[in-house]
Amino acid sequence: MKKTFLLILVLLTALVPVKADEGMWLPLLISSRIDDMQAKGFRLTAEDIYSVNKASLKDAVVRFGGGCTGEVVSPDGLLFTNHHCGYGQIQEHSTVEHDYLKDGFWAMSKEEELPNPGLTVSFLQSMEDVTDRVLKGYVPSMTNGQRDSLVQANSRIITDAINNQAKGIRSSVEGLYYANQYFLFVYKIYSDVRLVGAPPSSIGKFGGDTDNWMWPRHTGDFSIFRIYADKNNEPAEYSKDNVPYKPKRYFTISRKGVKEGDFTMVYGTPGTTKEYVTSDEVRYTGEVSDPEKIALRTMRLDIQKKYMSQDQAVRIQYSSKNASVSNAWKKWQGEAKGLARRKTVESKMDYEDRFRKWAENNQYKGLLEQISSLYERRNPYFRAQEYYNETVSTIELLTFASRVHSALKDGRPVETVADAFYKDYYQPIDEETFVAMMGAFDKQLSSAFKPAYHTQKLAQYGSLEAWRNDLFARSIFTDKDKVLSLTKEDLPKIETDPAYEMYNAYNQWYRKELQPTVSRLGQEINLANRRYMKAQMEFQPDKTFYPDANRTLRVSYGQVAGYNPSDAISYSPISTLKGIIEKDNPDIFDYNIPQTLRDIYAEGGHDDQPVCFLATNHTSGGNSGSPVLNADGELIGINFDRVWEGTMSDLAFDPEFCRNISLDIRYLLFVVEKIGHAQWLLDEMTFAD
Ligand code: ARG
Ligand code: GLU
Repeated sequence: MKKTFLLILVLLTALVPVKADEGMWLPLLISSRIDDMQAKGFRLTAEDIYSVNKASLKDAVVRFGGGCTGEVVSPDGLLFTNHHCGYGQIQEHSTVEHDYLKDGFWAMSKEEELPNPGLTVSFLQSMEDVTDRVLKGYVPSMTNGQRDSLVQANSRIITDAINNQAKGIRSSVEGLYYANQYFLFVYKIYSDVRLVGAPPSSIGKFGGDTDNWMWPRHTGDFSIFRIYADKNNEPAEYSKDNVPYKPKRYFTISRKGVKEGDFTMVYGTPGTTKEYVTSDEVRYTGEVSDPEKIALRTMRLDIQKKYMSQDQAVRIQYSSKNASVSNAWKKWQGEAKGLARRKTVESKMDYEDRFRKWAENNQYKGLLEQISSLYERRNPYFRAQEYYNETVSTIELLTFASRVHSALKDGRPVETVADAFYKDYYQPIDEETFVAMMGAFDKQLSSAFKPAYHTQKLAQYGSLEAWRNDLFARSIFTDKDKVLSLTKEDLPKIETDPAYEMYNAYNQWYRKELQPTVSRLGQEINLANRRYMKAQMEFQPDKTFYPDANRTLRVSYGQVAGYNPSDAISYSPISTLKGIIEKDNPDIFDYNIPQTLRDIYAEGGHDDQPVCFLATNHTSGGNSGSPVLNADGELIGINFDRVWEGTMSDLAFDPEFCRNISLDIRYLLFVVEKIGHAQWLLDEMTFAD
């Protein structure tokens, strides 16, 4: 008996999945994690990760553009990020004659690198806890409004003393832990960032939306840029006199490769997580918001796909739109499923029961009830707002009408707006979307959450189809020539156009009836969460809390590991070129690789060429392009995705299912050398071996 028990215990221990490491840690405070990191294999120190006194790894990491991360990899300011992060720039430079999206782009010298006005990269200079300074003058008798004004004024004093636009220095004070603490972040922003290289989309976006959020993955998701500076290495707007930026620190690249169990660290700027919210928020997200938005997007995607499969031109027109609709659609499916699978609502409720008992005799008594009632009041409005965004707002003709209206009003040229719109517009898709989306809006919302205009129009026409037919027949926005002839004098006429009129009626209602309530209750929820966050820290004094992601620089660490998504399926963590060849199919757009890659493979010897790998790092949207480092702080990959079964990690991390997906840096090197023939780029990199 005892023996069997022991045996079971041993077996269980052996079967316990590798422990994934939850947490997105502030680099400044990484000393509190360094023992754990070192125990898991890391060989550097906290000072190596973050220091203001000497060059550290943080000096090689940048916030790239609006929503991504990038890393410096040479003494001449060479930068890696994802293909999907540089997509806009690559597209910008593409024409019919030079289609860099399709064919790739490789500068063969610095002179051939392409400038990208508007694109910036931000280096974090320093971060610092400024809670005392931000709350200076605060007394508990203040109202929340008074506290907010004080925080704003104090933060302003701090940042005004630092900001220096001419030198590219920008600082911001960010509330962490729901603004229980305030940190000052100082950035140096470089604004001459040039495109150096990008693989063809059939490599950089290989697998497309079919493979997005999935494993096994074979996407060569990288692009290469270079940061330029003035003669003093300082930030400057684009000028041909600028010179390559000399970084304080750049990453050494390791070609040693990865294997299961290896330590990995991701250093980047994750966007938004909500790890400390109550069961109310999780229930709304997993049981209401996600399923409803998924259903709406499924209808839209089906309509798009139907027309895209009938016509090659339509497929091109809608591929980017389709990709962005499908990206969140797929993520939400994983999130809703993951929250249900790990019973997040139930486990949060258990936790809340224990919290409630603890709070029975302290100042937090009643806090959870307050939060629940706030959500109860907010949710119907919030849900209507989400419906508005996913239905009315998705009818292209309506938003176009509003864009033309504001261009004319502001005296901007209509041509630009019109050209961009008609290039990628296919009216049958929009017409069918109109009926499907307005039908869902009508059916799913109670009359209290619909504008009077809606009810009135439906009564007038008798059916959505009749409404649609009349709107598309009468609106001038379906006719490019008519739109191009519009002038400011036509504004009154536009305001009675059925498309503009409809846009305006719903938008007014949205802004008057929904927005104010949603934002007021949202603010109250935030304030209640501030107290709840503080209370949780008192409730669990031994737990180390990491702050929710907010686009600031974070470190997460873990190890290379596969996972078991469902019964009898087990994924190993490394994909290879062999898998690309297995998927290769000239008839399927997402899997049609360039002929050169087929030829290279045919030479033989490349079966084991690594392409992507899985690890247990806690990442989120915004971590795209992040450097993935080994135990010695050398670059082994570029983060670009998570597996869909683990996307609930934005609300609740599950070590069994949460995996980040990285490009193996050796595939980048392979593509640069064999597809791009850009040896000169490899020559400026530093390799560990
Ligand atoms: N899922 C990744 C992210 O959230 C990649 C998105 C781009 N790729 C795509 N196939 N849509 O950004
Ligand atoms: N692709 C995402 C990004 O652009 C990263 C995937 C994720 O959400 O983890 O940041």
